[in-house]
Amino acid sequence: MKSLISIVLLSLSLLAVSTQYKNGEVLYFEKGCNGCHGLKAEGMSGYPGLANRAKGFLTYKLERFRSGVSENQQQDMMIPFAQPLSDSDIDLLTTYLHEYYDPETESYDSSYQTWGDGGS
Ligand code: HEC
Repeated sequence: MKSLISIVLLSLSLLAVSTQYKNGEVLYFEKGCNGCHGLKAEGMSGYPGLANRAKGFLTYKLERFRSGVSENQQQDMMIPFAQPLSDSDIDLLTTYLHEYYDPETESYDSSYQTWGDGGS
């Protein structure tokens, strides 16, 4: 009985991970993040790429923008997009961005790691 319960819990938590990713993806497009950061969160000139960046870093930046803090005029642009986000929105978005993989290739290059760089 006990092992049955842990199997159920395990599959629920696995399910929760992929649901979080999916929900984060939906939010990314719903909130218009793709308009500046790109369809694949790859970024473009003046707009940093977000895919596979450290979750802690992304969360820190979004919470900072949400509280109205930015370091320069370019970053001011983020404030109106971050302000409507709830804590769980930020959690879903950063999960999606951190774990991002390209659905066309079904894999991502493990040698491409930008996390931990701490800046844009
Ligand atoms: C109108 C364009 C625009 C939209 C829409 C937008 N961003 Fe940004 N974002 C920016 C700019 C500009 C910066 C700051 C670039 C810099 O620091 O020079 C930025 C920075 C960030 C950063 C910090 C990255 C870093 O390297 O410092 C994160 C995280 C981020 N955006 C997430 C999001 C999310 C999530 C959304 C959707 C809710 C979103 N952005 C929507 C323009 C946009």
